[in-house]
Amino acid sequence: MAVDYTTHDGIAVITLNNPPVNGLGLSTRMGIVEGIDRAQHDPAVKAIVLTGAGKAFSGGADITEFNTPKAFQEPTLATVIKAVEGSAKPVVAAIHSVAMGGGLELALGAHYRVAAPGAQIALPEVKLGILPGAGGTQRLPRALGLEAALNMIVSGTPVMSEKLAGTPMFDQMVEGNLLEDALAFARKVGAQSGPHPKIRDRNIGHPNAAGFIQFARNSVAGVAKQYPAPHKCIDAIEAGVLKGFDHGVKVERECFLALVQTPESKALRHAFFGERAASKIPDVPSDTPARNIDKVGVIGAGTMGGGIAMNFVNAGLPVTLLEMKQDALERGLATIRKNYEATVKKGKLTMEALEQRMSLITPTLTYEALGDADLIIEAVYEELGVKEQVFTRLDEVAKPGAILASNTSTLDLNKIAAFTKRPQDVVGMHFFSPANVMKLLEVVRGKDTAKDVLATVMQVAKKIRKTAVVSGVCDGFIGNRMVEQYVRQALFMLEEGALPAQVDKAIEKFGFAMGPFRMSDLAGNDIGWAIRKRRYQEEPHMRYSKIADRLCEAGRFGQKTGGGWYDYKAGDRNAYPSKPIDEMIVAHSKELGIERRKISDDEIVERLVFALVNEGAKILEEGIASKASDIDMVYLTGYGFPLWRGGPMLYADSVGLYNVERAIRRYAAQPNGDAWQIAAGIVERAAQGRGFNS
Ligand code: 3HC
Repeated sequence: MAVDYTTHDGIAVITLNNPPVNGLGLSTRMGIVEGIDRAQHDPAVKAIVLTGAGKAFSGGADITEFNTPKAFQEPTLATVIKAVEGSAKPVVAAIHSVAMGGGLELALGAHYRVAAPGAQIALPEVKLGILPGAGGTQRLPRALGLEAALNMIVSGTPVMSEKLAGTPMFDQMVEGNLLEDALAFARKVGAQSGPHPKIRDRNIGHPNAAGFIQFARNSVAGVAKQYPAPHKCIDAIEAGVLKGFDHGVKVERECFLALVQTPESKALRHAFFGERAASKIPDVPSDTPARNIDKVGVIGAGTMGGGIAMNFVNAGLPVTLLEMKQDALERGLATIRKNYEATVKKGKLTMEALEQRMSLITPTLTYEALGDADLIIEAVYEELGVKEQVFTRLDEVAKPGAILASNTSTLDLNKIAAFTKRPQDVVGMHFFSPANVMKLLEVVRGKDTAKDVLATVMQVAKKIRKTAVVSGVCDGFIGNRMVEQYVRQALFMLEEGALPAQVDKAIEKFGFAMGPFRMSDLAGNDIGWAIRKRRYQEEPHMRYSKIADRLCEAGRFGQKTGGGWYDYKAGDRNAYPSKPIDEMIVAHSKELGIERRKISDDEIVERLVFALVNEGAKILEEGIASKASDIDMVYLTGYGFPLWRGGPMLYADSVGLYNVERAIRRYAAQPNGDAWQIAAGIVERAAQGRGFNS
């Protein structure tokens, strides 16, 4: 049973016991109603305490039940809350740790609430693309007032319980033992005659509710363009404010049922579970003992190394930062300080905290200083010979059991591991630039990487607040291997008839943060050029449009050289279409004998996104990624794929793999079609009517 029922000297205690977060799944809901009924029938019981075991009061509705019949099976959460609110004996919710979503709605249905400090109080449904569906949009404004409640509902942001002390939300804050104090409180109210207060009976009382709601609508319109949920939250709140509680609940219900079916909500729920699933490695049990990581070493104080070091000091871990030359070391430290100063200027860090973080960095010019580090990450020049020197030295100085990590984005981790006599301790930690900002961390698993090393790195990633995704060894790992096919298609489309601005606009309209050409100008076109030069040697069969080489031969490396696919003006980061480059592209088509044609925006989007999907499917087939949601997490957190579409693999599922296959076969029959080798995983799944995530 997911609920425990006990009695304590005249008080019934109903304890939600559904780990990990007391989600309100069917059996928990049934248990609560049973407990409430049992307490009604026991004459010895004078009042009821409702609380949660373990690490939460309740994290809300069980999201895994959404889109299953269980979600709507009675008792629904609305029925449960009705039972609680309708109890003849007073119900006291004893809140600690987490009261979110349906969990908070349940507590708001109780007659009284006592809370421990430090509990996260939230209606975060909007982050899952839905709205509070069990009266939250009606009761929270009656507990906290319209403005505070609307802000909480529309943002989904948690508020600490102590901040809400003194509001009708909490009748008492508890510093000591929550259960004991809740029992004492229940005894007191149990001795009083009813009726006991119900939040639904309170007035919202706002001097200009209609005006505030209009203001909120305007604010939301600006920030939530792609998301219907925040707008619906306001609709439901407004309904209750203008026409009363019951009408508000009715509108809330209708909105909930509509939102739960939207692609945006499916995408957000996919990302929620995808993030948690990414931290689980199929053959590495969750109880694998992790190594202690108390001290970190970083080799290279350039942009990457400095950013990596910042992650660790931000999490309170001391870092020894190694450079080869004093001036490079000083430059690196100065850049780190400058980054922190910018955060201080924004008011997000105090000067004191800045100094404290800087004091956690020990600069050094000698490898020996890394001897006591538990984890050492190299961020040196991307060349195998350089990596060989670094790892040979590390093998000499690192203590036994230290984890040796490479930040390589392209090189063969197995070769790097072989430079040491301890390949089991070597792993890839591929950070994305700027490393102190970007959420994504690709954890590269070599053929010998030990399981406890992987378990440790996943734990460390959580500590430094990264979304870690495990990738097997291949060229480019998950993210860059896929993006290479995306860029190839973008370049072929230039030859066939498109111009950079059209390609970028089409994919940005689809929702990407930045199109391939603006992105390449920002990162530096020379990076792709270096990769292509290597490809021409290693994989001569892989055909590339030569147009990007022409651009680089002209010295147009992007923003840093004042021009790339676009023109740039000093002090202005806007990209201006470049007449000479557009002419160069048209001339290039002519040289190739290609008659340029109008390429539709739909074709641009399909070719770019399906190129990602096709390569993603191959990555799955080869076991480089262990699940489709891992690929989606890479693209959502590292490559600017629109969150509301859930990542390339979920997007492909929503289009239907049958349709994806047809489109790819169509493009494969066009000029440049040899770039499309359809993945068996698409064909097989399409034939079986399955998707990547089903
Ligand atoms: N339903 C089902 N599972 C849930 C869940 C929920 N509401 N909330 C968390 N979980 C699961 C996670 O998937 C994870 O499972 P795993 O161990 O198998 O991966 C486990 O609980 C622990 O979650 P976290 O790793 O996130 O643990 P933390 O301690 O870091 O955070 C938390 C706990 C703050 C509760 C966080 O999990 C969270 O924000 N959860 C979502 C809360 C939420 O959105 N609630 C609203 C649900 S919708 C709703 O209530 C509708 C209603 O209005 C009708």
